[in-house]
Amino acid sequence: MEPFSLAETSSSVPQEKFRVLVGVTGSVAALKLPLLISGLLEIPGLEVKVVTTERAKHFYNPQEIPVTLYSDEDEWQLWKDRSDPVLHIELRRWADLMLVAPLDANTLAKLANGICDNLLVSNCNSAFEQSLHSLPSQH
Ligand SMILES: Cc1cc2nc3c(=O)[nH]c(=O)nc-3n(C[C@H](O)[C@H](O)[C@H](O)COP(=O)(O)O)c2cc1C
Repeated sequence: MEPFSLAETSSSVPQEKFRVLVGVTGSVAALKLPLLISGLLEIPGLEVKVVTTERAKHFYNPQEIPVTLYSDEDEWQLWKDRSDPVLHIELRRWADLMLVAPLDANTLAKLANGICDNLLVSNCNSAFEQSLHSLPSQH
């Protein structure tokens, strides 16, 4: 994980890029994550970060993801004391839009019921003021 810069989330800093937070869950469609990220990076003016579930990690090679990738461990590594930032809140502030692709049945059920037991669903459920989109992939 790259150290998360609080300056990145400050609204006083002029923001040049549109920030997309991609969430990836444990659907076989997560095989396409490298393709999705490279496609998004071809769009001028986009900045991308990824939040992954642990199960999703089975489907792609992190070496093929050329942007910062966050997972549950990072949430707990970042927070040591009361003055420390909370990763899911910082990411929510950072992002203009969150796209969960693929959204598997397990995470869809968690979102529908307000369950917040990992970084990805904490992001989705933490009063996401920005747009939240998803591409469900259940079979
Ligand atoms: C090979 C494989 C493929 C899977 N594909 C899907 C899928 O396409 N859609 C889905 O909803 N679940 C799929 N699953 C089940 C999820 O991985 C499982 O429900 C997991 O607990 C999801 O965890 P997560 O939501 O935290 O990522 C698949 C499981 C395996 C082993």
